[in-house]
Parts: sequence; C-alpha cells; structure tokens
Amino acid sequence: MEACAQTRKSPKCQDRNIEIRLPARHEVSRINPRPRLKTGGSGPPTRLRQGDPGLPRSRDRPVSFACRSGFPARAADDPELNQSGNGKITKYIRNTKGSAQNGGVGLGRESRDFAGPASGRADSPEIFMKTANKPSPRRVSVAPMMDWTDRHCRYFHRLISRHTWLYTEMVTTGALLHGDVPRHLAFNQEEHPVALQLGGSEPADLARAAVLGQSWGYDEINLNCGCPSERVQRGAFGACLMSEPSLVADCVKAMCDAVSIPVTVKHRIGIDDVEDYGFVRDFVGTVAQAGCTVFIVHARNAILKGLSPKENREVPPLKYDYAYRLKRDFPELEILINGGIKTLDEVATHLQHVDGVMLGREAYHNPFMLAEVDRRFYAAPTQAPSRADIEAGLLRYVQQELSQGAFLGSLTRHTLGLYHGEPGARGWRRTLSDHKRLAQADLGIFDEARLFLGPRAEIADLGASQSGMNFV
Ligand SMILES: Cc1cc2nc3c(=O)[nH]c(=O)nc-3n(C[C@H](O)[C@H](O)[C@H](O)COP(=O)(O)O)c2cc1C
Repeated sequence: MEACAQTRKSPKCQDRNIEIRLPARHEVSRINPRPRLKTGGSGPPTRLRQGDPGLPRSRDRPVSFACRSGFPARAADDPELNQSGNGKITKYIRNTKGSAQNGGVGLGRESRDFAGPASGRADSPEIFMKTANKPSPRRVSVAPMMDWTDRHCRYFHRLISRHTWLYTEMVTTGALLHGDVPRHLAFNQEEHPVALQLGGSEPADLARAAVLGQSWGYDEINLNCGCPSERVQRGAFGACLMSEPSLVADCVKAMCDAVSIPVTVKHRIGIDDVEDYGFVRDFVGTVAQAGCTVFIVHARNAILKGLSPKENREVPPLKYDYAYRLKRDFPELEILINGGIKTLDEVATHLQHVDGVMLGREAYHNPFMLAEVDRRFYAAPTQAPSRADIEAGLLRYVQQELSQGAFLGSLTRHTLGLYHGEPGARGWRRTLSDHKRLAQADLGIFDEARLFLGPRAEIADLGASQSGMNFV
C-alpha cells in the first residue's frame, strides 16, 4: 500500500520555495488507536511533579534540524514550524530547492580531516560522518536484544571494547513502574556508556520510566519503535507505534522534558506492506521536531501479522539506502543503521553514509569482532585485547558475581561465542554449557573448556593480568 504525503506551499514560505510537508496519512492499519495523552507544554509531563526524586529541571530544548539542502528548519524560530502548545507536531518543513552547501552533510571529503586512522592503521583511514561537527560517540553499538544483552552480557562486551555503545534489553514501562526496579535497572558502572531501552506508549509513563533510568545513571533513553512481537503489539507499542508518529512525538517530548540525557528512537523503515521511503522520512521528521536527534534505523520493514519476531529479523528485505537517504535528508540528525551487518569492514562502509552502526546478532555470536572497534573506529591508542585478556577479566567478574549469589550459567551463556571460528570453539561452548557443573558454580569449568583450545590457552595469574578493564 502506497503511503501518500500531502504537501502544500505555505504562503509565508512561497518566496523561499519551501514546501510544507504534512505527515503522510498512511493507510496502514492502526493498532489499538488510543486517546492522546497531553504532555502539557514545556513543563514536566502529567503525573511527574517538580521535586519528585530524580526529576531534573525541565529543560527547554530548541529543536533544530536542517535538510541537506540547507534550510535551517529551527522550530523555535519559525511559527510555521512551531510545536503546538501540547507538544504535538503537526508538520515539518522540507526544502525541495536551494543550496546543497549549507547543510553540513559531513559526507566523505568533509569528514576526512577527522578520519582518525587508529594508530598503526595509517594505510587504511576510516572516514566518519560528522554531525554537529563531531563524529558520533555511537559510531559502533551493540543492539538491545531481549534475554541476551542483560548486564552480564554488557559487562562481557565492555571487556572487549571500551567505546562501543551498549544497550539494555527492552524494559517496559509497566515492568519499571510496577515491578522490581533494581532487577531491571541495576548495572555495573564499568558498562558506561550504556543506554536504557524502554517499551511503552504512554507519554507520562515513559517520562517516569525515563526519570528512573536517568537516576540510575544511564547515558541515554531509547524508545523501542521496532519490535513486531504480538505481545508487544497487544501492549500497543514497539513497531506499531510507527503508524502513530505524533504519539511517538508526544512520548519523546514527555521524556525530553523530564530528563537531561539524550532520548533516542529505534525503529524500522516501514510496517507491513508500506514500502514508500516517505513513510519513514515523515516519521523521523515528526519525531525529530519533538526533540529526538538520534535515530536507529533497523533497515527493514516490520510485518505485524504473519511473521514471528525471528522471521521479522530475516524475511523483510534490508534497504540500507533508506537509512542513507534519511541521513541526507536530515544531516543534523544522528542516524544509526542496523540490520544484517556482520564485519567491521561493512561497518566502515556504512560509516561513510551514516553516523553509526548497530550490531546485533553478529556481535552476540562472535563478540571478539568488537576487539578491534576501539582502535579502528575510536582512534584508541591501545592494543586490542586478546581473547586471553578478555577471559581473565571475565574470570574476575565471574568470581565477583558468584560471591554475590549469581548463577554461573547466567554468566557463561554470553561467552560461548568468544572463540567463534577458532579451533576448539565447539569444546569451549559445550563445556561452558554443562548444566551440572554450572549448577555447582565450579570455576574449574573454564580450565577444562580451555583445554579444547590448544597450547595458547594459558590465562595469566588473575591478580597480575593486564586484562579486563585495565586494557584501555
Ligand atoms: C534475541 C533478540 C532479541 C531482541 N530484542 C530486541 C529488543 O529488546 N529491542 C529492540 O529494539 N530490538 C531487539 N532485537 C532486534 C535487534 O536489536 C536488531 O534490531 C536486530 O537483531 C537486527 O540487527 P542484526 O541483524 O545486527 O541482528 C532483538 C534481536 C534478537 C536477535
């Protein structure tokens, strides 16, 4: 089904050849449409009160983004663009003509000066997109993955890369506001930078959950607009929110008003049979006006009926070009690309078109791929850690966690891929999955697993090791 964007010339803008683009009225099915929850201007959202624990001062965030063609569409400056009093966005401007030079796109040549070939790689400089004149700290990130990227997994990934931006699993507002907050939000300080992904669609609830996230020390709040699971659809959030961009804008505004850390959105490029690029462009344009400047684009559609979540990560075709076009259309936004990316060479290629690359399944199954990320993409002057370094750091962490009552298997399960592709990897995996030994919290399991890996496998004395968090 083709989405149709409505456009008209604003009398105010006619002499500037500016076209007002109203958010398209997409003919996609609306999942559980609900009454809008007003978020009350620039003040804190409904049910949050000044003085609530962890509630920072509400900030006035001027929303500013420019199209590639150079028109600085600054909402605060242009009444045509201004958000309505309740934070609801009704339209955004897209310049169809004009100079291509003012937009600060930051493609290729312009970025070369930063380039930052990591030391020792002067022969193959990496080119990074620059937004607001600096490359994104999220140049490389590991995706939020339910049941996978828990705090143990993230700590393990942090042992491998100091700079890769990490995301939690999705936590629903219901779980946070009515459940066990420490269980959902506690994390190790070593995990920074780490973003909390929220699932929900009520602006006030999301704002309260975001405040909790900020007070627990997260570096970013991310809203899930990409999950197609039936359970999530029943809760009327996740991917089905893409059919309600103004509701997402309300949610983003409520969160932006409540916290001072960045609020970002992870989404798909379309839902069901909407293939039109204009759909995702209008979604991003609308949500950007509410204060979101970072968009993570899982570059395939979500099929809401008929495909399982797993199939939804494999069947709909990847369209990286849509993410590239978003970056060209909104050069001042940070656009991250996600979906099917498996190697650091692919990461480097994408970084010539967008600001960041999010790795999901490959980073989980082959975590050692992250070892070169710091040197290659963050110009870190240090050596990449070896697998032995990582393992030693892991052992320290495991000892610490076991002493606090953790189950050994909940830690080792994330490390099964450490030797992915190496001789003996299968023995490593099998040994570290031995439930009987895991239940006994027997750390000798690591020595045994290492036996499969051949002569290399001597892990330095834990105390003296240069491993783990010390490698940076
Ligand atoms: C087991 C699993 C759980 C996931 N859970 C989430 C989630 O909680 N939130 C989310 O936004 N995406 C989730 N995803 C989707 C990933 O974040 C990512 O968008 C997707 O796997 C595509 O990236 P990839 O091809 O690099 O894996 C999940 C993916 C997997 C494999």
